[in-house]
Amino acid sequence: MTLDVEQIRKDFPILERETRPGVRVTYLDSTATSQKPVQVIEAMNDYYRRSNANIHRGVHTLAEEATSMYEGAREKIAKFINAASSREVIYTRNTTESINLVAYAWARAKLKTGDLVILTEMEHHSNLVPWHMLQMERGIELDFIPVTEEGLLDLETYKSLLDRRPKLISFTHMSNVLGTVNPAAEIIRLGHDAGAVVLVDGAQSVPHLKVDVQALDADFYAFSAHKMCGPTGIGVLYGKSTLLESMPPFLGGGDMIKEVKLRSFRPNTLPHKFEAGTPAIAEAVGFGVAVDYLSAVGMERIAAHEHEIIEYALDRLEEIPGVKLFGPSADKKGGVAAFTLEGVHPHDVAQILDRDGIAVRAGHHCAQPLHEKFGIPATSRASFYLYNTMQEVDLLVNGIYKVKEMFG
Ligand SMILES: Cc1ncc(COP(=O)(O)O)c(C=O)c1O
Repeated sequence: MTLDVEQIRKDFPILERETRPGVRVTYLDSTATSQKPVQVIEAMNDYYRRSNANIHRGVHTLAEEATSMYEGAREKIAKFINAASSREVIYTRNTTESINLVAYAWARAKLKTGDLVILTEMEHHSNLVPWHMLQMERGIELDFIPVTEEGLLDLETYKSLLDRRPKLISFTHMSNVLGTVNPAAEIIRLGHDAGAVVLVDGAQSVPHLKVDVQALDADFYAFSAHKMCGPTGIGVLYGKSTLLESMPPFLGGGDMIKEVKLRSFRPNTLPHKFEAGTPAIAEAVGFGVAVDYLSAVGMERIAAHEHEIIEYALDRLEEIPGVKLFGPSADKKGGVAAFTLEGVHPHDVAQILDRDGIAVRAGHHCAQPLHEKFGIPATSRASFYLYNTMQEVDLLVNGIYKVKEMFG
């Protein structure tokens, strides 16, 4: 069951990097973006060296090859999340654009003044601001599933919010600050029972857990390649085909049309209807290889490895006087440890750790309302992935003791 982490680390050239002479990087910021294995880097390099052409339009060999690689990656991604069909996998730029696609194309067509959208207090800004914008434009109402002191969603309040017959529930499967893994299947089932459509922000779940969109019965599911060993610049919106078919297009232009007249157009079929213009082709190829890579290692094994690390990390961090951890216990969360250190600003913590090559993030992590809820402006956050080791947790802990010494 356990991962051969030393072998896995050999696939990630950046982990050999020295950020200053003699100081090797300890990368604990995978929640922001993951590192990329050499398989992904080489696949993108090979694509540009051997197959580069624009897709869907040409009949020449390179165009056909590029199209088949681009569409082949879509097939792999569909299988990875168990979509019923690759027609339900729309390429976007990232999770943020996927959520905006739903807000623009689905919500603007279906929601009117007074309609209720339920979010949660632990959302990333990318699952808040598109709805704020729609509220200003359309007069929809927003309400929020509260987060408990422990860092869990208050499902009893959720059930009472459902009495108000919301039109949409949109929530994160896993918090990028607290690490909380929310009971997605239950939230979706309850939402459906109340007649709502449900969108899941899967930016942190798809990279770390086995996600089956059909078993979850999610209507929409959004995620980014760059957090799951793939390149930046590409993400996915999964949507049930019936919903995607009922929606108007998002962006207009080339590729998303079947036919254009001077004064009208007919949209293309799925998934192309939502992919206007030349897409991120090399990135799609890299994304497909990232999915191959994660599948070969095994998502269950990755989740188990991260569980061991976070359990150890929480135990060790808790021992440090002055450290306050946020979020639930290891059994209810993924590999994310957000903390404060008494008397030291989180940015100072991150900056001093960086001197020893330890990369953690400091700030509000694009979840300002959540930090406000806990009465703090910022936290330091260490996050773990398949290539992290227990020794790296020890380096982090030693680094924090050093910070404490410096600040007396
Ligand atoms: C929970 C969550 N949602 C959405 C996003 C936004 O992802 P992207 O910047 O790739 O669009 C992030 C990124 O950190 C995230 O953690």
